[in-house]
Amino acid sequence: MTLPDTPALEPVDLSPEPTAPLLYRPRRLRSNPAIRRLVRETHLQASNLIYPLFVMEGENQQVPVPSMPGIFRYTLDLLLEEAKTAAQLGIGAIALFPLIPEAQKDNTGQESYNPAGLIPRAIRTLKTAIPDLVVISDIALDPYSDQGHDGIVDETGRILNDETVAVLCKQAIAHAESGVDFVAPSDMMDGRIGAIRRTLDNAGYHHTSILAYSAKYASAYYGPFRDALDSAPKFGDKKTYQMDIANSREALKEVALDIAEGADIVMIKPALAYLDIIARIKATTNIPVAAYNVSGEYAMIKAVAQQGWIDENTMILETLTSIKRAGADLILTYFAKQAAQLLTHSPQ
Ligand code: PBG
Repeated sequence: MTLPDTPALEPVDLSPEPTAPLLYRPRRLRSNPAIRRLVRETHLQASNLIYPLFVMEGENQQVPVPSMPGIFRYTLDLLLEEAKTAAQLGIGAIALFPLIPEAQKDNTGQESYNPAGLIPRAIRTLKTAIPDLVVISDIALDPYSDQGHDGIVDETGRILNDETVAVLCKQAIAHAESGVDFVAPSDMMDGRIGAIRRTLDNAGYHHTSILAYSAKYASAYYGPFRDALDSAPKFGDKKTYQMDIANSREALKEVALDIAEGADIVMIKPALAYLDIIARIKATTNIPVAAYNVSGEYAMIKAVAQQGWIDENTMILETLTSIKRAGADLILTYFAKQAAQLLTHSPQ
């Protein structure tokens, strides 16, 4: 059997005339940096970045987090220095997370609402020294829980919802009293936004805002954060309260509930594997949308950069731009300082 001859290739005609005029050439708007800047749709700015900071007891120490190169747990004095640097770089806000000594942890997370606790002290120190820097504090039990869960655990291993919400309200009051700008409940208990809003209002803290972790998924990307705070669950996982990774309609419902309950900003977390969720939520809400570029997302880029396999700075800016392009107005990111430095040298 013989194969048919390969047909001769037709010469390609690129001339615009007369049959196929190329009226529109998209490359015209990519011709040079000035034109590209002129027509750019998404602008990354330090003022929209929120820098998460880990704080611990002690003095004059900063302990690196091994799975997050470049990120440290700071004692209060050094935390203040890092926060000043962030403010000077024009970073919009910082978000605080505590490393609590094991001896202060228990199942009900009592230390979480100690008015003289680590976070209330950190808030007071920061707001006194740098009043214009926006401070956000995480509201959840896991850093204070000897079970490593975001709620109180009963004898059967279930996470109790309403009992936990009562503790979160006390925690929010302790932070509001210290002068925090935003409390950020990251626990995913039902009804906590409304309960916290009412508690704050009844105590006269109308001006304390709520950044709600509304669509928070049960994600493997939180691993390095749990190393940083020694807060990994002691048993099981967080799937009975954090969202199923396969769901998106549920995210819309969580956002609608949180807005109805009084959230000022809603957040999606993680960011990168959930860009579709960010876009859907952005399309349905008029309040600011935040996204959390979480610890695992940070660690992935740092690890691959350490291998020399990608260009780190370019990848950071591309990644943050993608989150913003998807619809996030604000981004919590461990890259905040590095990105702000890059943006001062070459604004986008
Ligand atoms: C816990 C909390 C977590 C993060 C922020 N708040 C971890 C978790 O839910 O287990 C993760 C942040 C990150 O990975 O950078 N309430």
